Amino acid sequence: ASTLGAAAAQSGRYFGTAVAAGKLGDSTYSTILRREFNSITAENEMKWDATEPSRNSFNYGNGDRIASQARSQGAALRGHALLWHQQQPGWAQGLSGSDLRSAMMNHVTQVATHYRGQIHSWDVVNEAFADGNSGARRDSNLQRTGNDWIEAAFRAARSADPTAKLCYNDYNTDGINAKSTGIYNMVADFKNRGVPIDCVGFQSHLSNSVPGDYQANLQRFAALGVDVQITELDISGSNQAAVYASVTRSCLAVPRCTGITVWGIRDSDSWRQGENPLLFDNNGNKKAAYNSVLDVLNSA
Ligand code: G3I
Repeated sequence: ASTLGAAAAQSGRYFGTAVAAGKLGDSTYSTILRREFNSITAENEMKWDATEPSRNSFNYGNGDRIASQARSQGAALRGHALLWHQQQPGWAQGLSGSDLRSAMMNHVTQVATHYRGQIHSWDVVNEAFADGNSGARRDSNLQRTGNDWIEAAFRAARSADPTAKLCYNDYNTDGINAKSTGIYNMVADFKNRGVPIDCVGFQSHLSNSVPGDYQANLQRFAALGVDVQITELDISGSNQAAVYASVTRSCLAVPRCTGITVWGIRDSDSWRQGENPLLFDNNGNKKAAYNSVLDVLNSA
């Protein structure tokens, strides 16, 4: 196959990108988007600050623009993200305790209901574990409403949209380490107790190398009975093409690794300005990393 999406589809997988609604009118951008990708994640437009700028008053304009783009090109849509300690609207940042808890659950229910039937996978909870060696939850206003906030969010999302796959998503969880093990233990507990969870997202913001146990880490989560997805891939450094190939091979080697999303199209679209971590250059030309990913996908 000659495009990323079609090549990934040969093994039943998707190849996606993060999309910004404000760039859909850029013809270089939208031409690559339509040609190469069969999954789309809203880079910012479905986050809490964007969708509920004031309490219980919802704004789905830009999120719907992205959903409509996905529909028009036959791409799957990843929802990102229902609850996160960042990009909260100011009014939510000022709440705590049971008031915040009820605002959180209302947000999950309303947004998941609005997009019901349109979402392939939702990042229900994003980045809730601490960096470093504790393996513990990250301290945040969300966490301070009670340790059960994550399972409450997954239950509310399942009720609102029974057909979306429900994912937990995080970064620096790409190898086997204290943070990924903390998440692993949470997912195992959820599966044991029947808390609805279908997938774990590994953001994979990498710098010139990938942990040697990357594939083993994906595999141990898959063995718990969840899908695994590479959700925000970008890779800096001179070894870029080889590292992209290695990440792609790892996904293909894990049957429950169902797809890969890169976090933007051209280097100029990346949140990592100056690092050129994506598959297309600023002019929309394919980079060596693009060819290495395509070759691996075609070898599956
Ligand atoms: O839209 C406003 C614009 O009106 C304003 O003039 C401009 C000036 O600051 O800001 C614009 O908003 C920015 C927004 O991106 C859209 O470009 C925000 O300031 C900026 O904070 C925001 O950054 C996003 C970041 O999440 C927020 O934390 C990045 O685009 C987005 O790529 C990034 O994505 C996250 C994932 O959601 C979760 N994992 C990590 C990843 C990278 O940080």
